[in-house]
Amino acid sequence: MLPDLFDDAPRDLMLEPGAVVLGGFAAGHDAALMDAIGVILDAAPLRHLVTPGGWRMSVAMSNCGRVGWVSDRRGYRYDPVDPESSRAWPAMPGLFKTIAARAAEAAGFPAFVPDACLINRYEPGARLSLHQDRDEEDREAPIVSISLGLPATFLWGGQKRGDRPRRIRLTHGDAVVWGGPARFAFHGVDPVADGIHSLTGRARFNLTFRKVFRS
Ligand code: SIN
Ligand code: FE2
Repeated sequence: MLPDLFDDAPRDLMLEPGAVVLGGFAAGHDAALMDAIGVILDAAPLRHLVTPGGWRMSVAMSNCGRVGWVSDRRGYRYDPVDPESSRAWPAMPGLFKTIAARAAEAAGFPAFVPDACLINRYEPGARLSLHQDRDEEDREAPIVSISLGLPATFLWGGQKRGDRPRRIRLTHGDAVVWGGPARFAFHGVDPVADGIHSLTGRARFNLTFRKVFRS
């Protein structure tokens, strides 16, 4: 049988200095990651946040770790408390920390210890417009992203909002790490196409690990 040319073979891809896609990096831990996500979401359910401008985000979000990223009419911030429950966010599972640290190390950023993890769920049609991750106090540590489930087109912009983004297909298990000179690059996600994934169903999940506090 001829190989399927459109198969998503594991591949690594340098986006620019400091930014790399690690193809399939987390695929071997996919079921354990989804189980852990399920436990977190039982305690801190997904919700659609509102932007400071009053728009409901199409991506549903939750968090684990010392603080969680939230948005409302007052702005964006990291909050130690889930505003929905007034309780602390669920602790970050050891598996999350280990995988994030390994991905960072593979990308050239040793000793990454994340203190926050944003959990994003994209149902078909959900998207994330181009933005920078700049609400963290620690400007040295990289961002580590892990994708699970339905594929998506990741937008990799430059240092300026107006730079025309590259379009990178991210599939189940892929990690993206950006830090150093690429830490504040613009990035986003095109509307996710409809589909069913055997592990996640009709959804794409993305975990982004951040180090918010300087230590
Ligand atoms: C993010 O920028 O927070 C998420 C990126 C992604 O879903 O791939
Ligand atoms: Fe981001």
